[in-house]
Amino acid sequence: MPADIDPFYAMDINRLAHRLRAEGRSVIHMEYGQPSTGAPAKAIEVAHRILDSESMGYWESRELQEGLARHYRQMYGFDIEPDRFVLTCGASPALVLAMAANFNAGDRVALARPGYVAYRNVLKALHLVPVEIACNDETRYQLAAAHLEAIDPAPQGVIVASPANPTGTIIKAKELEAIAGVCRARSITVISDEIYHGLSYVEPAQSMLAFEPGAFVIGSFSKYFSMVAWRLGWLLAPTGHVARARAFAGNMFLTAPSLSQHAGLAALDAHDELERHIRVYRRNRDLLLQALPRLGLNRIAPPDGAFYFYVDVRHLTDDSLSFCKMLLQQTGVATAPGIDFDPIEGRHHIRISFAVSTPEVEDAVERLERWFSAHP
Ligand SMILES: Cc1ncc(COP(=O)(O)O)c(C=O)c1O
Repeated sequence: MPADIDPFYAMDINRLAHRLRAEGRSVIHMEYGQPSTGAPAKAIEVAHRILDSESMGYWESRELQEGLARHYRQMYGFDIEPDRFVLTCGASPALVLAMAANFNAGDRVALARPGYVAYRNVLKALHLVPVEIACNDETRYQLAAAHLEAIDPAPQGVIVASPANPTGTIIKAKELEAIAGVCRARSITVISDEIYHGLSYVEPAQSMLAFEPGAFVIGSFSKYFSMVAWRLGWLLAPTGHVARARAFAGNMFLTAPSLSQHAGLAALDAHDELERHIRVYRRNRDLLLQALPRLGLNRIAPPDGAFYFYVDVRHLTDDSLSFCKMLLQQTGVATAPGIDFDPIEGRHHIRISFAVSTPEVEDAVERLERWFSAHP
């Protein structure tokens, strides 16, 4: 039987936002987790040059794999063989690869609820069984080793995400180490989604590889490198699994776009520009951290990284999708409904993305303050 996949409801909000904009309304897009900044200047410069000089074709760039190995050395001190980076069209296919190359139909894979919408749905599409662990503000909406220990029988896999979407919370090194220990003891394969690495405000996120060298790590140029539309990412597979992962990649997706691979290599050297984005996000985060309690929105786990606030609005609604639509209609501020991330408790939550400009955040705060003071 074909799997029953849920829609991504934030797309409904985005469609409504575009309709309102077409009608002449002013809209602030805080529904999607995408940087509004565009690719680094160095990446664009290289892309122009390649467009003018190369015909391009199916290709996996050795230079980019070596560049990523350097990036991991600089960021974490790891020494990684470049061939272990399987280049993909973003983190999304890397997730599919990690799941398809590891599990058999019917295998159980644990994950935190709330969590990124695609985890649950891709697992279902591959006829795997999501084992959702309800997480709340006590563990800052994150998985803990104790959760994994308590699942009986042990699942075949687990997806760990730090910083996480929709909360931006980071799993501390000690807890990551404990999770890795439980996984080793119970033969649970770890998929670590590290797409938001580089975007942290409190402490840098640790890679799962520091504790579990056998983990499958997912990365992307979409977030820190501000290159969502270039569709470029990677699966960092453990030695011994690389050939299989690459065979799956070739059959399912062929290769990542050549132009993006050239541009991505240049983006690896654009840290000054990218660090300026982080300063903007940090300022946006601080503005919202001050403003949300003024609106009576006190139940938030302050994000350690990424660019999201996951806000409990249970005093206002138990239908987050209708609430987001109403808020958009009445204020022009587009947000994502919590049901995308948690089909049960998410009806009480909304996610606000602050990957926009600071003037847009200031404008959004003013609009929300007006709305909330009219709806005490
Ligand atoms: C946690 C997480 N993983 C993976 C993705 C997919 O990203 P992409 O395919 O653009 O690299 C996203 C996108 O928002 C995400 O939030």
